[in-house]
Amino acid sequence: MVCLGNICRSPLAEGILTEIADANKVEVNSAGTGGWHVGSQPDPRSIAIAKKNGIDISHQRGKQFSTYDYEIYDHIFVMDLSNYNDVIKLAKTDAEKAKVSLILDEIFPGENVDVPDPYYGGAFGFENVYKMLYQACEKIMSRLSLQKEAN
Ligand code: 4NP
Repeated sequence: MVCLGNICRSPLAEGILTEIADANKVEVNSAGTGGWHVGSQPDPRSIAIAKKNGIDISHQRGKQFSTYDYEIYDHIFVMDLSNYNDVIKLAKTDAEKAKVSLILDEIFPGENVDVPDPYYGGAFGFENVYKMLYQACEKIMSRLSLQKEAN
């Protein structure tokens, strides 16, 4: 899960997919294309909206996306077109490029919809982003068969 700062949107996406998917089937991580918030906790507003929905993201720390991530991860979900362009620039092969997609393509295929950056707005923006990311993560989970087994 990749956004610009790795403190607002991608930590939420990491927290949601980690929460709803089977931990034995997937390793989820997040990073920012920028390095300003490396080592920082997620934004308090992201921590709060996650907590309101029963998800703890307070242990996450900011990381910067690197070419190494292409080697580790099978899928790279970016939050907006600007993240897409930044991440694609770091790809070394077509196979790496093919790993990258806009996360909202999951629910609005082919429409190039961005997850709006809520950093400069109020709490409503975070609520909205949470809802979009939850729907997208549910779709990722079913498309990639990452559901928890019923017991
Ligand atoms: P994010 O939001 O990309 O969703 O984490 C941002 C957080 C911080 C900054 C930009 C976007 N910033 O410029 O510091």
